[in-house]
Amino acid sequence: MSLIETARLTKKYNGNAAVDTVSLSIREGVCTALLGPNGAGKTTTLNMLTGLIKPTEGEIDFNKNYAGDRRKHIGYLPQYPKFYGWMTGEEYVSFSAELAGLSKKKAKESTNKMLSLVGLEEDRRKKVSGYSGGMKQRLGIAQALVHEPKLVILDEPVSALDPIGRREILELMKTLKQHTSILFSTHVLHDAEEVSDDIFIMKKGKIIIEGGLSELQQKYQQPAFFIETEKAMDNWLSSINEKSWVRQSKLDKKKLTLTVEEVDTARDALLKDPMLHKLKLLKFEVAKTSLEDLFMKVMR
Ligand SMILES: Nc1ncnc2c1ncn2[C@@H]1O[C@H](COP(=O)(O)OP(=O)(O)OP(=O)(O)O)[C@@H](O)[C@H]1O
Ligand SMILES: [Mg+2]
Repeated sequence: MSLIETARLTKKYNGNAAVDTVSLSIREGVCTALLGPNGAGKTTTLNMLTGLIKPTEGEIDFNKNYAGDRRKHIGYLPQYPKFYGWMTGEEYVSFSAELAGLSKKKAKESTNKMLSLVGLEEDRRKKVSGYSGGMKQRLGIAQALVHEPKLVILDEPVSALDPIGRREILELMKTLKQHTSILFSTHVLHDAEEVSDDIFIMKKGKIIIEGGLSELQQKYQQPAFFIETEKAMDNWLSSINEKSWVRQSKLDKKKLTLTVEEVDTARDALLKDPMLHKLKLLKFEVAKTSLEDLFMKVMR
């Protein structure tokens, strides 16, 4: 059963659709990535789901098992969170808890729990202005979780971070997804592949590809060969490109990626090809194209 569903969700600014008839269904208990380039409409979509902005058209339905205003059941980390630098981490989280309507006692309990969950226990009494980017992001996540929402929405949680901060947050998300459903946006396919179960790819306001990660990998990853030779492959390649078992070839100097219909036929033919041997093979590897190839293709 889905946790949140939209039907033909649309947001127009001055007649232009930033989000265009998006119908999506987010499953409960999994991590979902909303993937797309700058300006695709990710933040606008998430802001409509959280209730921060009103759709121009379309519907949003939250799972009926969770009664009342859906905002109660959603935690949100904005793309550009603002913190009060003079507060300590602890003060910031308990302030957010009280804003979410928790009693003082509950707020305190929840603050302790969340600070430990995101690994900020030791730094809880430091001023937020002294936190690193990764620590601020973890604080933002603690703030989003403080009322124990059913769905936590993270808008580009790792984009602004250096590799260490990035790693910290991705690892934290892996822990979180065991407790809470997560929906996060990113423009990096690799992040989506690492932590998410479901993926929606958005472009110019529309969802253009969606599915489970493994389903997409099965559907779009193609068998391929990586071939490297000492001599130039150009002439040989033009004869190979005409073979029925070749889908696509991409030559980068002396490195060739050859996408094929099926591995066995292609391998037999390639290894029997005397011309290839004359080019002096350096590398011959059976592989698969990555989702990156698909992603780059649809993003163009
Ligand atoms: N308040 C607004 N007024 C006018 N246009 C807007 C507004 N908010 C967003 N847009 C436009 O809607 C489109 C989608 O923007 P949005 O911020 O949702 O994209 P995004 O996928 O989150 O991009 P990014 O990766 O840069 O965060 C963009 O063309 C943007 O200029
Ligand atoms: Mg955005």
